[in-house]
Amino acid sequence: MQKNILVTRSSMPEFEEYMEQIRPLWESHWLTNMGTFHKQLEKALKDYLEVPQLSLIVNGHMALELAIQAMEFPEGAEVITTPFTFISTTHAIIRNRLKPVFCDVKLSDYTIDESKIEELITEKTVAILPVHVYGNICNVEDIQKIADKYNLKVIYDAAHAFGEKCKGVGVGNFGDASAFSFHATKVFNTIEGGAVAFREKSLYEKLYNLKNFGIRSEEVVAEVGMNAKMNEFCAGMGLCNLKYVEKNINLRKQRISYYMDKMKEIPWIRFCERDTKQNVYSYGYFPILFDSQAFGLEIRDIVCNKLRAQDIYPRKYFYPITADAACFKNKYRKLPLKNARYISSNILVLPLYPELEYEIIDRIVDIIQDTMDSKR
Ligand SMILES: Cc1ncc(COP(=O)(O)O)c(C=O)c1O
Repeated sequence: MQKNILVTRSSMPEFEEYMEQIRPLWESHWLTNMGTFHKQLEKALKDYLEVPQLSLIVNGHMALELAIQAMEFPEGAEVITTPFTFISTTHAIIRNRLKPVFCDVKLSDYTIDESKIEELITEKTVAILPVHVYGNICNVEDIQKIADKYNLKVIYDAAHAFGEKCKGVGVGNFGDASAFSFHATKVFNTIEGGAVAFREKSLYEKLYNLKNFGIRSEEVVAEVGMNAKMNEFCAGMGLCNLKYVEKNINLRKQRISYYMDKMKEIPWIRFCERDTKQNVYSYGYFPILFDSQAFGLEIRDIVCNKLRAQDIYPRKYFYPITADAACFKNKYRKLPLKNARYISSNILVLPLYPELEYEIIDRIVDIIQDTMDSKR
């Protein structure tokens, strides 16, 4: 049996398949700068995600950072966002010289609480930046209504939502832009990679310039851009992995069903709510939330340590909330964020990947059950 069970395991094509894919690079010597694979993958992803426009980017963080930059917000403007996310989301706002205003999240699915957004809007607010955290789709309709009412942009961090659909519509169609991540740990990976999906056609050229040093033509540099191009080896990996993504999503889904079935008798554990009747999910993560109040102990950390002692490595995603990160603690508007803090202190993301053996899931659930029994 494999020794360490990590929270995830990167999906890869067969070695020979990838070698065959990248063989032409030894003939063309064209390794980056919007090469053939870059163009092919950009088109394939636009089709797969069913979005009107898509720009391939070097990673998910830069996709988000450049999507924000492309909106040309004035320096110091406020962006309403969630603190229950990976640090990248908040960094992307701050690195654009904007101020994050943290809005609390819902206990049901951990996404931004749309009913609390309006009270945070000031004359400085320019955008809402929600996250489809763990692939749980935000209330895109209500968020858009608020944005329309106050003339705000909406930029989604869709790093966890590859291939998902909300009521039949690809998740990248909502808001003004959505940033996806194709990091090695994601449902679909290009080793490192990302993309911005959007509707507005002019954004394509804008993002192209931003990811290519702002170079518009041989002699004209029109923007202060940077280098955020995806190279051909990563794009080639993406072309291979895309063939298996559907199959892998199904395997993930089966493992989540198995986990949930095995855990349904354990009290004090909650699963996040998903509307599987109306939406399509890609099952990137399997978070469980311990009801520490009812249990009467900080049970998440106890269980996490027990699993680690047996070479099983779940993750406390996302702890602490980004509003409490040491690098900008107390720099921004301080808000209660009660639900976000509660979820962050009680969440545990369990190992999940397409090949995860059912016997390992049995072991994980047994350890959790035994630990909780022993503490009662
Ligand atoms: C919510 C969220 N946003 C942004 C990112 C950044 O993506 P990348 O790692 O591809 O830069 C991640 C990565 O894990 C993420 O989880």
